[in-house]
Amino acid sequence: MLRQANQGAAHRQKPHQDRRPAIGASITAGQRRLNSHPRRASASRGPATITAVSDPKNLCGGTFGAVYDFYIEREPLARLVGRTVWGIDVSAMYASMAAITQLPEGATVIDVPCGGGVAFRALRADQQVRYIAVDLSEEMLGRARRRAAGRRLSQVETVAADMLALPFADATADLCLSYNGLHAVPDPEAAVAEIARCLKPGGELVGSMFLLDGSLRQRFLIGRGQQRGEFGACGTSADLRGWLGRAGITEATVEPERGFVVFRGRKNHL
Ligand SMILES: C[S@@+](CC[C@H](N)C(=O)[O-])C[C@H]1O[C@@H](n2cnc3c(N)ncnc32)[C@H](O)[C@@H]1O
Repeated sequence: MLRQANQGAAHRQKPHQDRRPAIGASITAGQRRLNSHPRRASASRGPATITAVSDPKNLCGGTFGAVYDFYIEREPLARLVGRTVWGIDVSAMYASMAAITQLPEGATVIDVPCGGGVAFRALRADQQVRYIAVDLSEEMLGRARRRAAGRRLSQVETVAADMLALPFADATADLCLSYNGLHAVPDPEAAVAEIARCLKPGGELVGSMFLLDGSLRQRFLIGRGQQRGEFGACGTSADLRGWLGRAGITEATVEPERGFVVFRGRKNHL
């Protein structure tokens, strides 16, 4: 049932395709992987390929996505939900979005998964950057497009793609954002590696995720979310540090050490 719903979403996204070419992309490593991946299909229309993906576990097109988007967009409400439901403080996540404000003119941002565009709050309408907002869910991308239009953020492009196989050339972005998505995928290490592949040497990765070694309450909620398909494999703090290191993200910070964390680091120059 879910698979059918998501396949439908993938089909519906075609008329909304953003046809602006991906920077420097001919056929990327991500696309090569896509073409050989049995679970994923790509509509091949040149470098601006929009990836149509079916993922039976992505519930963000439905009520879950609507409710999530409502509260995550309202920081005081998200802080309340975080505190009362999860026992976490989400303010560091919102604060970390300031990384966008520090970008030089001409920089490129990849925000994956962008969801409804929660990080757009840190983008100014007159900021001369290329902002590529990527998500698997066409419904979430629709929200992101409406939010960008409402804030007159004409530099935002939306791309439907799987974070495990991004349709961008290596070293495309100066900044990659990955908020609250790595705990949603079956293979977070592969997602970190794929996102890091798209970062320029010296580029910054900033994001947040739930980890498995938080409080008892958090572990219980994650376990329940995994049963319902809202959470993927997740991992521990040590896992996250390992994924970042193996992906070439150096000087990584993970704060707080456990539970719901904000991580950041820079792609090495090797
Ligand atoms: C909890 S939301 C987070 C969105 C946003 N970054 C935020 O913090 O509000 C998780 C998002 O991940 C997206 N998603 C799930 N699996 C994905 C995948 N494999 N590739 C890209 N996006 C994915 C969902 O569609 C959803 O929008």
